[in-house]
Amino acid sequence: MESIDRILDRMTLEEKAALCTGASSWTTTPVERLGLPETICCDGPHGVRRVADIHSTGHEALPATCFPTASCTAATWDVALIRRMGEALAEECIALDSNILLGPGVNMKRSPLCGRNFEYFSEDPFLAGEMGASLIEGVQSRGVGTSLKHYAANNQEYQRFVIDARVDERTLREIYLAAFEKAVTRAQPWTVMCCYNRVNGRYGSEHFQLLTEILRDEWGFEGVVVSDWGAVHDRVEALQAGLDWEMPGPRPARVQAVVDAVRSGALEEYVLDASVRRMLALVQRGTHRPSAPDFDVDAHHALAAEIAAEGMVLLKNDGILPLAGQKRIAVIGRAAVQAHFQGGGSSHINPTRVAEPLAELRERLAGAELTYAEGYPADDAARPDLIDEALAAARAAEVALLYIALPTYKESEGYDRTDLDLTAQQVALIQAVSAAQPRTVVVLNNGAPVAMSAWIDGVAAVLEGYMMGQAGGSAIADILTGRVNPSGKLAETFPLAVEDTPAYINWPGEAGTVRYGEGLYIGYRYYDARRQPVLFPFGYGLSYTGFAYSNVRASAATFRDVDGVSVSVDITNTGARAGKEIVQVYVHDRAAEVARPEKELKGFAKVALEPGETRTVTIALDARAFSYWDARYRLWRAEPGEFDLLVGASSADIRGSVTVTLESTVDLPCVLSRSSTLREWLADRRGREAIAPFLAASEEARRQAFGEEGLGMNIMDMFIDMPVLSMLEFQMNALPEAPEAIVDRMLAQAHALP
Ligand code: GLC
Repeated sequence: MESIDRILDRMTLEEKAALCTGASSWTTTPVERLGLPETICCDGPHGVRRVADIHSTGHEALPATCFPTASCTAATWDVALIRRMGEALAEECIALDSNILLGPGVNMKRSPLCGRNFEYFSEDPFLAGEMGASLIEGVQSRGVGTSLKHYAANNQEYQRFVIDARVDERTLREIYLAAFEKAVTRAQPWTVMCCYNRVNGRYGSEHFQLLTEILRDEWGFEGVVVSDWGAVHDRVEALQAGLDWEMPGPRPARVQAVVDAVRSGALEEYVLDASVRRMLALVQRGTHRPSAPDFDVDAHHALAAEIAAEGMVLLKNDGILPLAGQKRIAVIGRAAVQAHFQGGGSSHINPTRVAEPLAELRERLAGAELTYAEGYPADDAARPDLIDEALAAARAAEVALLYIALPTYKESEGYDRTDLDLTAQQVALIQAVSAAQPRTVVVLNNGAPVAMSAWIDGVAAVLEGYMMGQAGGSAIADILTGRVNPSGKLAETFPLAVEDTPAYINWPGEAGTVRYGEGLYIGYRYYDARRQPVLFPFGYGLSYTGFAYSNVRASAATFRDVDGVSVSVDITNTGARAGKEIVQVYVHDRAAEVARPEKELKGFAKVALEPGETRTVTIALDARAFSYWDARYRLWRAEPGEFDLLVGASSADIRGSVTVTLESTVDLPCVLSRSSTLREWLADRRGREAIAPFLAASEEARRQAFGEEGLGMNIMDMFIDMPVLSMLEFQMNALPEAPEAIVDRMLAQAHALP
């Protein structure tokens, strides 16, 4: 294809405007005159939802592998595995003829109530960023694009098209943008999809700071910004903010609005041209349609099973698992025959096949007698008859397996949950069965945490299967029978009650606004700060073996920010069977000028160990691992001083730590101004020098006016957070000149210092 500039030169204004608006729900606008083909996109993020007639508005999708959802893949903590999933997704995109996969979603799980949390990875931005970047790398390694979404602070479904997320700058940077930043800077997704909602008063589709200043100018994003479907309100505003591609199309009125705006001068043509250039680059990349007529259905199904088995989390086990030799097993719950493996909405895949949990179990327990009982209906009706039937099966068995899936009407894209509860019937069923059969195992299929306090003490084991993808049924069977040793760990906290959750008092917002009042403190950051007990902590998961941690050490006791530091730990498999352990490294800042969460995840590794084997795990930490966003200097700042490196099996199970000292090589710019407080002057190297004479003079003046004892108060405590200019105006003795002149002279001095 011709060079982009050459094509651009030949395009008419109408062709340029048309290229920036979709031609259909899934395609860009071709320009036959210039030999520009269409580019095709389709949903994700955990499967290829490629509608059969790409130019229609129909929803019938071609068969594709439904991989585990992000709720499950995140719990693998295995970036290499997620990359492999991305490669497989790309192969299916190629086979089904799609150039861009709309995913991954890396929005933070601010509240477990969000109906779309199954599509998102974590409450922690470091883990979410690692997972998102790895999936993008996997997909794009095969010449297929991705769309990192939904940028940004799209953390609820309630009023998602209009609600204004009010987020302070540090929180936005450290929590809600950080996963996007990592994915963009490490993996360069072909596209980034803007959110529907507002962020601090501006729609995501018209947010110049987000789309241009941060995404492009600061992070160096080179691709195309695409709108979420229907997220554009003012097409010209959106273009000026940096939104290149409006979807869906066709929207002739929007194209005309752009043409008119250029003609009237309301929109500079160079602004449009910048978007057209990026669209041309996308079309050139996307047009490359490798000729692969199909994909390996069996291999992808097997990969989906492998990922699901790595992502399921064993939450409780009194020793009943893995099953061993039981001959009579009750299998209760409709999810045992109607696998609940994905969520509702745009991510809904037409699976190539579905592994039925009961059938998979039968295959692995040929010698056992499995008795099925439905347990609960598809709706939330109370059915005591089904409980009676289940009880009969459970009493006649040696063990009862309860397959409990959260109904779709409770969680999906488009709406949030109002509670964390299973259905009343499901709770009654679990309580009744476990009372009659103490050897009861609960297998959960849900996209986000559920409340368990009403029944968990009465059951012998709980396996969190999440929304496990089409092959999840076989993964469950492999774990229950011990073919696979579970190794997943929670990528989100399971709270005891919804009232305990960080966002609870601000959820879901009202009058069009939702305040992120908990600030940085989401997930384990909040529960740590509040010393709040939880049901299961972030990073938690059991295994059929055990692991010992020893010899935690750092590569240096003192290090410079530019050099970074690494922390090592020896991990030993202390059990009788092979297993995998997810080692987590959290950083604790012992002293900072600002409030910081008690600890933050900054590294992890998953290690496979044979029985008795010991291996050393080493995690490298760069300056960013110690930094917070300093809103004053508008930069990531790692303050000099001591930090604890905490090595844990979960956020609540720290197995060892080492303290290191960071030396800063950063010479912060002088940002003092007329409104700066005395504390800010003294915290600034240059400020301290420039203000010293004034402080000495003030001290002398005070002593003369009030004598040694002063006014019986600590002057510094009184003035430390007062603007120096106001202090001067407070000055008791006559000033030689106007306070502004004195402050301006000190400012000039401070800013002139090297
Ligand atoms: C939906 C979703 C987005 C999806 C798009 C296309 O509304 O928010 O994730 O990719 O529209 O279906």
